[in-house]
Amino acid sequence: MLDNRLKWGILGAARVNERLMPAIIEAPNSQLIAIASRRAGAASETLKKYAPQGFNDKFSDIKCYDDLESLIADKNVEAVYCPMANEEHAEWALKAINAGKHILIEKPMAIAVKDIDAIEAAAKANGVKVMEGFMYRFHPQHARLKEIVDSGLIGDVLSARASYSFLMKPARMYRINRSMADGGGALWDIGPYAIHSLRWCFGLEPKSVIAHAKLNEHGADTVMSGVLDFGLDKEGRARFGHFDISFERSRKSEYEIIGTKGWVKCHAAWVFQNDVPVISWATEDGKYAEERFAPSNHFNLEIEHFSDCILNNLALHLSFVDARANCAALRASMDAASRGIEIDI
Ligand SMILES: NC(=O)c1ccc[n+]([C@@H]2O[C@H](COP(=O)([O-])OP(=O)(O)OC[C@H]3O[C@@H](n4cnc5c(N)ncnc54)[C@H](OP(=O)(O)O)[C@@H]3O)[C@@H](O)[C@H]2O)c1
Repeated sequence: MLDNRLKWGILGAARVNERLMPAIIEAPNSQLIAIASRRAGAASETLKKYAPQGFNDKFSDIKCYDDLESLIADKNVEAVYCPMANEEHAEWALKAINAGKHILIEKPMAIAVKDIDAIEAAAKANGVKVMEGFMYRFHPQHARLKEIVDSGLIGDVLSARASYSFLMKPARMYRINRSMADGGGALWDIGPYAIHSLRWCFGLEPKSVIAHAKLNEHGADTVMSGVLDFGLDKEGRARFGHFDISFERSRKSEYEIIGTKGWVKCHAAWVFQNDVPVISWATEDGKYAEERFAPSNHFNLEIEHFSDCILNNLALHLSFVDARANCAALRASMDAASRGIEIDI
C-alpha cells in the first residue's frame, strides 16, 4: 500500500522534542524517519526519552545520525523540523532548504530580518514551504477569542497585554549564557510569543517600542517589560501593547485585550501543563462569561497542518510577512532596552 504520509527528520536533540516528537509520530499524515544531533548518541537517546509510550518497537524505522549534514543529505527526508538554538535557525534552515527540504523552524524563525529575507528567497528558489513554529496559534481558543473581538462585544481594541514568565531551572541556565544580540535571553525565548500575540490582537504592526530589561552578566535579559505603540485609532485614542516576560517569576502564560466596551482574556495561552484552556470576558453593561475548551494539543495540530499543506499544496497559516514583522519588533525591543530610548520599528 502506498504510504502518503510526509516523511520528517528532526535537526537537533533539543528539549522541545519532548513535545514535537510525539506530535510528528502521532500525526496521521506524518512519519518520523530520522533525527540528528551533533552530540554522539544524543539523537537515539532523545528518541528513547521522548517517543510516546508503546512506540519502542518502531525505533528501528528511524535513522539516528550523529551529525546534522547526514540528515540533510538523506534523500528520504521530505520535511525538517528545526529546534536548534535561536541563533542557529537561519544557517541550518538555509542548508535544509537548499537541499530541497520543506522546513518548520521553531520560533524565532531567525534573529535578524535579513536572514528571514534569505530564507524566503531560498524557499522560492527551491520550491519548498517554510513556516515559523508558533504552535499556540493552532489551538482553537485563539480563533474563538478573535471571533469575540470581531463580533464587537468588547468594542474597539485599545490595549492588549501579554505576560509570559516561569522560573528558569538551574540546569537550563545555559540558555541565557549569551547576549540578546546573539539570540540569548527571555526576549528570543518567550518574547516571540508575547509580541506575536500583541500584533495579532490589534491586527496591526507597531510603530515604535520602549522597554526595560534586567540583563545578566552575559548581556541576556532575564526580565523585560515593554510597550509597543500601535498608533492612534480614527477617534484619536491611543493603542498600546504591553509585554512582560521573565525567567525569575512563577508561571504566567496569558494575554488580554481591552476595548471600549469590555475586555477578553486568554488564561493559558502558550503553555498548558495542568491548566485548562479558558477564555473569560466581561462587558461594561455587566455581562461576564468563562468559556472552557476541550483538551486540544496545539503541537499535534501544528504538525498536521504543516504536513497537510505540503502533501496537498495548500497555503500555510503563518507567513514570511508575519515572521519578518515579529522579528523587526523583537529587534527593536532589544535595541530599546539596551539603549534606553524609544525605537521606531
Ligand atoms: N514551541 C515551543 O513550545 C518551544 C518550547 C521551547 C523552545 N522552543 C524553541 O525551540 C528551540 C529549541 O529550544 P530548546 O529549549 O528545546 O533548546 P535546547 O534543548 O537548548 O536545544 C537546542 C540545541 O542545542 C543542542 N543541545 C541540546 N541540549 C544540549 C546540551 N545539553 N548541551 C549542548 N547542546 C545541547 C541541540 O543540538 P545538537 O543535538 O545538535 O547538539 C539542540 O538542537 C529554540 O528555538 C526555542 O526558542 C519552542
